[in-house]
Parts: sequence; C-alpha cells; structure tokens
Amino acid sequence: MSEQKFYISTPIYYPSADLHIGHTYCTVMADAMARYKRLQGFDVMFLTGTDEHGQKLQSVAEAAGKKPLEYIDPIVDNILDLWEKMEISYDDFIRTTEPRHKERVKKIFMELYENGDIYKGEYEGMYCKPCEAYWTDSQLEDGCCPDCGRPVESAKEEAYFFKLSNYADRLLSLYENNPEMLQPESRRNEMISFIKQGLDDLCISRSSFDWGIKVPIDESHVIYVWLDALTNYITALGYPDDRKLYDRYWPCDVHLVGKDIIRFHSIIWPSILMSLGLPLPKKILGHGWVLVGGGKMSKSKGNVVDPRVLIERYGTDALKYFLLREYTFGNDGPYEDETLIKRINSDLANDLGNLLSRTVSMIEKYKNAKIPSVPTEKLSENYEAATSELLNLAKGTATKVEEAMDEFAFNKALEAIWTLISRANKYIDQTQPWNLAKDNATELDGVLHNLAEVLRMVSILIYPFMHTSSEEIRKQLGIWYADVKWEEAKQIHMLGGEEVKKGKNLFERLDVEKELAELYKSNGKEGTDEASNDSDSSKITIEDFDKVELTVGEIIEAVKHPKADKLLIFKVKLGDEVRQIISGVAECFKPDEMIGKRVIVVSNLAPVTLRGEKSNGMILFAGENGDYKLVTTDADSGKVVK
Ligand code: ME8
Repeated sequence: MSEQKFYISTPIYYPSADLHIGHTYCTVMADAMARYKRLQGFDVMFLTGTDEHGQKLQSVAEAAGKKPLEYIDPIVDNILDLWEKMEISYDDFIRTTEPRHKERVKKIFMELYENGDIYKGEYEGMYCKPCEAYWTDSQLEDGCCPDCGRPVESAKEEAYFFKLSNYADRLLSLYENNPEMLQPESRRNEMISFIKQGLDDLCISRSSFDWGIKVPIDESHVIYVWLDALTNYITALGYPDDRKLYDRYWPCDVHLVGKDIIRFHSIIWPSILMSLGLPLPKKILGHGWVLVGGGKMSKSKGNVVDPRVLIERYGTDALKYFLLREYTFGNDGPYEDETLIKRINSDLANDLGNLLSRTVSMIEKYKNAKIPSVPTEKLSENYEAATSELLNLAKGTATKVEEAMDEFAFNKALEAIWTLISRANKYIDQTQPWNLAKDNATELDGVLHNLAEVLRMVSILIYPFMHTSSEEIRKQLGIWYADVKWEEAKQIHMLGGEEVKKGKNLFERLDVEKELAELYKSNGKEGTDEASNDSDSSKITIEDFDKVELTVGEIIEAVKHPKADKLLIFKVKLGDEVRQIISGVAECFKPDEMIGKRVIVVSNLAPVTLRGEKSNGMILFAGENGDYKLVTTDADSGKVVK
C-alpha cells in the first residue's frame, strides 16, 4: 500500500429532497481530486454520505405523511443512483442513521462529557428553524438568521451545552498562524472577526423533537444535528472503537464544503476535535454556489437544475467537464443551459473530438491504421519548429495541471489541457498531413506520431476529470489495455506500431436552439400539469399582491445605526405621517445623499425592532447581496403606488 495517503470529504447532504446540480458540483470536484491523487500514487480515502437527522427532516417527512426513514430511504437511493450515474469514485458512503455512526456518536458525546466540556443548562435565544441554529442578538443580521437570511423566533429549552467558549483563543491563533488551513480568504477573515467577538457555548441537544441520536446520559434529548453530522468524518473511519482506518487516514487532508457551512466546519468541528485531543483537518476549503437567475437554487423557489436530465442528454463526462471548467473555485457562478451546450460544442465536440477523429482517420488512411514510430532523421525546418513548439507544450502541461490542482483550480487545470488540444489542432493545419502524404512520407510519419502522442498524453491528463472519454481515446489509439500512469503524461515518443481503430464520436455537436427548447421542457417550465403546478408554487396571486400596500415616502433624515454597521435609520415622510424605517444598505449609501429622495415604501409591513431601534415599514431598493441602488419616483409623498 502506498505510504502517501490522501483523505477528502464532501459535506453529507440532507436527503430532504433530490440533490441538484449545486450538490453535484461539490461531489464532482471531490471525485476529480480523488481520482487525480490516486493516479499520482496516493492511497485515497474519499468519503461522502447523507445527514439524516434533525427537525427539518422530521418536519418534511411529517408533511409528506411518512415516518422519517420511510421518507428518507427513497431519496438516499436516488442519491446513490445519481453518484453511480456520475461515476463518483467514493470509498465510503455514510448515512448518519446507520448503527455504526449512531453508536460512535454516543461514545464521542461521552468522551466530551467526561472531559468536562459538556454541561446542562437552559437555553434561551433566537432560533432559526430551517438551520436548527440558535443565534445571539449580535449575530443576527437585520434581525434574521446570518446564514440563510430567514426570520428567527425566540425559543427556550433545557439543554446540554458544549464549552465552545473555551476554544476561541486556540481557534483564533490557529487561523491567524495557519492561513492556508481555511480558504477562501474572505471567509477566513469573516471567521476570524466572528471568533474575535467571543464565542458563546454551543447548545448541543434538543428536546423539542425526537428525530436524532439520543443523548446517552439523558434520553429525553437528542444530539444537535451538527454535532451528529460533523463527527461523520471520523465515525466512518471507525473512531473511537475500531481505529484501523482512523489511524491510517486521520487527519483529513481536505474537507470540501460550500461556503455557507464553513462556520460549522471551522469553529464547531475543530473545537470538538480539540476537546477529544485529536489532530485537526489540514484544510477546510469553501466553494462558491452555482446560481440560477442570480440566486441560490432551492426547491421552494422552483429553480432547481436536475443533473439527471443533463446526464441523460449529454452524458456524465460532459457534465463533469462543464462543472469543473466553468466555475472558479471559491466564487459563485451562474448556471445557464446555453453555456453548457456551447461548451460541449466548442471544447468537447470541436476541439477534443475533432483532434481524435482527424488523427485516427489519417492514421487509418495513410498508415494502414498503425501509429508510426518517431522518425530519427532531421526533417524540414518548418516541421522541426512546429513540432518542438507542440511537444514542449505537451511535456510541460502535466506540471501546469499539477500546479492548478494544488490550488483546487480545476478550471485552470482544464484550461491548460485545452491549450494543448488547441495547439495540436493548429499543428494539423500548419503541417498539412494530406499534402505530406503526396510527397514526404517521413515527415508525415512524424506528424501522425506526434499527434497520437499528444492524444495519449491528453488521455492521461483528462483521466481524473472525465475517465470514460480518456478510456475511449486510448481504445481508439489501440492503447486502451494499458494502465494510465500520470508520469507518462510528461514523456514523449512512447508510441509506435499500435493499431488505431476509429470509434464513435467522443461528443456529438448539438443544435443549440433545439437543445435549449428540450431543456426548457425537461426542467418543467413547460408541458405537464405536474410541472406547471410545480412552478406555480413560487407565484403569488393578484389577491396576495393586493395585500401589499406601497406608498411614496420622502426621506427627511438618515443616520447610521449606532449598533450595526450595515444598517441606516431613516425618517420617512408618508404624506402627513413620519415613520422610522431601518434598511441594511449602509454599505451602499452615504446618509446625507439620501435626504430629499422620494422612494417607495411597503407601508403595511408589521413593525420590527432591529438592534434596539423600531422599524415601521420597508424602503424598496434595486439589487441584492449588498449591492443596492435607489428606486426613486417624482410622485408626491403619501401617494399610493399601484
Ligand atoms: O448543509 N451550489 O447539507 P445540504 C453549490 N447536511 N453548492 C451548493 C448549492 C449550490 N447551488 N446548494 C447547496 C448540509 N450546496 C449539511 C452538511 S456536513 C457535516 C453537513 C452545497 O444538503 C452547500 O453549500 O443543505 C453545502 O456545502 C452542501 O451543498 C450540502 O448542503
């Protein structure tokens, strides 16, 4: 067994609904990294799974009239089926409802308890139901959950607490001294300032519902779903009772997670590990979101992109390629059908597909299907110049891929490979083998040999990202039986005498308009009753809209909220009435420049108190995610807007 080991994990997904392309994105990145490391000789552990406890899952199951597992099992089957179709090479899939996990979580709870880090108390605070998280007033953003932005409610319960506050100093020095451990940088800075405010102890039990692992010392409580979930990374390795895998693979090399759950992974998880006296993960990497229509995908918004539809139409490799090539790690990026189809046409069908089919056809036609050996004599200057440029690029590409993969820059890795593919296509145009076939057999041998070489190297380079296409290339080149070895992507002149055989096109060129129409239909935006009902769920009726009262208001005063950097407190004149309204736009406007503006106000919104100040109404702004512009009007203040 290899001495070098590499342990990578994805988040364990909530099986509350079928997974969408955002979840697929994360798992595809982890798969590519796992395959890449295996190819480099690492002994890899790639873990994924499902997070099956908690109030949210209990509620969705109840709403569907089912017991939790009755509801969850078919969704987990779909997830397993999706990973099979995507050819995800995980080594273990853990379900948090499995006995192996539940028993180990209880043991871990007892270890924390015996170490003196768990105590019983009473929790009172603002609770976000969907996130199952309590927040302090200072953590709330505009009175809402800082993670999902939804309203919170006040709640109180007897509970067990984990002494998270004890770990703030160690966490702070950890991230300040090891910046590479937590990325992207923006999230790391956020976490550092979050920790600097001081950490409250963490409520780690719930008694208001029972779908969870029972607290071993008090069965009227279940263990907080995040404590249950985070420990999957070690329970899957057998911790604490069967430590063979644990000893081999822990600490984890990379926890790959979405940026929204970095807080849990960078604060709660390391504190638990510190309390257990275990080593910490080497890296926690947060990726961005795949956005639809400028927002995060969600079932309730009805804007979910189903990976199954895309796999069925375009195949696993095309979808993997698109996800890895299109998005920059750490940044959000939009999903659009058209971009996917255009990438398939240009990068896959044109660039890669054509290079293979042209090369194999020419070797069949001119060389009786045998790859020529490299000519030993010196050939024309034109040939030598074009060839050395191509082969130098080819020999250096694997190193560029390695550098990119070290940074999880999948898009840069693929960009480097496609630069080589384009260069090889250009080499065909430069050397014109069809003319060489008439009068220069040696140079023709050289050109065809070099093209086959580049394709052989490409087949290795793309293997971690799209192994089926890699195998198809090797099959057509007559080297399909050989093991793929990464180091051979750096060597040239390995081929000679192999028998090529033209096979199917690697990727078919698509008719953009036709595909867009088909995808539009498949995503339920047209057609069946079921689909139209589905999309109706995100619409409101005219009666709903009539309930909203909009009024023109004139801003007569604007000041910064003394206790919140993001909030401005406005005095707004609505006809004869003056209202105080708070908006989270302090980063976009200077208070003084707002005076005298006439804006549109939702005037019948229930009043709320935000960080100690009353807000009675809401001013409309254009934009989202902290980038806002004024929506102004010429109409007089107090006018109704309809
Ligand atoms: O958070 N684009 O599960 P989850 C990219 N069970 N990534 C996305 C995405 C999108 N549009 N939508 C969701 C949980 N994700 C917990 C994890 S781990 C110990 C417990 C990502 O199913 C999201 O960022 O809600 C998160 O990393 C992952 O999917 C799982 O989300």
